[in-house]
Amino acid sequence: MNRRQPGLRVLLGVTGGIAAYKAVFIVRALREAGHRVRVIPTEAALEFVGRPTWEALSGEPVTTSVFEGATGVDHVALGRSADLVIVAPATADLLARAAAGRADDLLTTTLLTVTSPVLLAPAMHTEMWQHPATVANVATLRSRGVTVLDPDSGRLTGADTGPGRLPEPEAITAAALALVTPQDLAGRRVVVSAGGTREPLDPVRFLGNRSSGHQGATLALEAARRGAEVTLLAASIDASAREVAQHPAVEVVDVETTAELAAAVDTHTSGADVLVMAAAVADFRPASTADRKIKKDESAPDVVHLVQNPDILATVAARPRDGLLVVGFAAETGTQEEVLELGRSKARRKGADLLAVNAVGDGKGFGDVANAVTVLDRDGAQVGQAAGSKQDVARGLWDLIVPRLG
Ligand code: C5P
Repeated sequence: MNRRQPGLRVLLGVTGGIAAYKAVFIVRALREAGHRVRVIPTEAALEFVGRPTWEALSGEPVTTSVFEGATGVDHVALGRSADLVIVAPATADLLARAAAGRADDLLTTTLLTVTSPVLLAPAMHTEMWQHPATVANVATLRSRGVTVLDPDSGRLTGADTGPGRLPEPEAITAAALALVTPQDLAGRRVVVSAGGTREPLDPVRFLGNRSSGHQGATLALEAARRGAEVTLLAASIDASAREVAQHPAVEVVDVETTAELAAAVDTHTSGADVLVMAAAVADFRPASTADRKIKKDESAPDVVHLVQNPDILATVAARPRDGLLVVGFAAETGTQEEVLELGRSKARRKGADLLAVNAVGDGKGFGDVANAVTVLDRDGAQVGQAAGSKQDVARGLWDLIVPRLG
């Protein structure tokens, strides 16, 4: 493992199969996650998706041969500098050339100089995948430590179906990033709440808050990348936060009200290792909900009566919980010292194992902006800090949580 995400240098080889278009989405996902991507297509791949597409998406030059350009392409430097190599789709021909150690184009030449983890995602007709030559090539590559994904089964290029389909781009990206991410949450079940609960006044109006769900979604994604099975309890999260959480190991369960979130927490924490309550939960709800839209004339109430919602975090923390680690968030306003003091008393009151305290207001904390949290234990003592992008904060928080798991 060369370094921690993000900012990895990824080489993406693309070979000449109809599924080459799907590699476009791998480039996009990696770039959106903050990684640099250098695409190395084969000549045949360019028959399916042209050079301008790869250059525009990756923002890097694209070459297929070692001899292109005035000085040639330094395949040794390319291979050595890579933190991760993906080939998707990998044709039967690429598998054969890689297994034989051939160096007849820039991609195979570079593969011979690589020291990072390598993931190949084959795609071909079923007959080619099952041919003894391909089976032997895959076995050879795997015996050398190369990760060769099994293709999906399903509809192939023509009318035929069977094993040979390129796995979905998200699955390939997730499997590749897992190779360079510590799998310190492997085998763990994690529940994360995100977003903000909404309490209906009538069928069209609600009392809610500004939480976008980004921090919770990022925490869910980071846990999944580190090997956990994750349930994301999504309380009206933004579409962009939903996209952030896209990972084969993240199951999204949508909830709206605090009561729905409380029920979902009960259901999904059974057998789980950790609950992270990143959702902004409405403290109050209207005492009654009109079943028809309230009109602005005589039926409009002057006063909305509110009743208190249960504190989900405090409730879960207070009951016997069979090894479940409970982590809360506290968003506070004020000076750094005021925020910390509020956090300390909240930590003692809530009884969660850890409480991540952050300052909000003045554009801090909400939406997709830089963030900083101080993590306290149940006595209010500081156990660590995490700052930077929401992804940095998520990584820092899991670094503090993992050693505390039973
Ligand atoms: O009291 P406060 O809302 O600041 O506490 C924040 C923490 O408590 C968050 O982790 C939030 O998800 C959780 N919470 C809860 N149920 C409530 C209110 C907050 O679980 N009714």
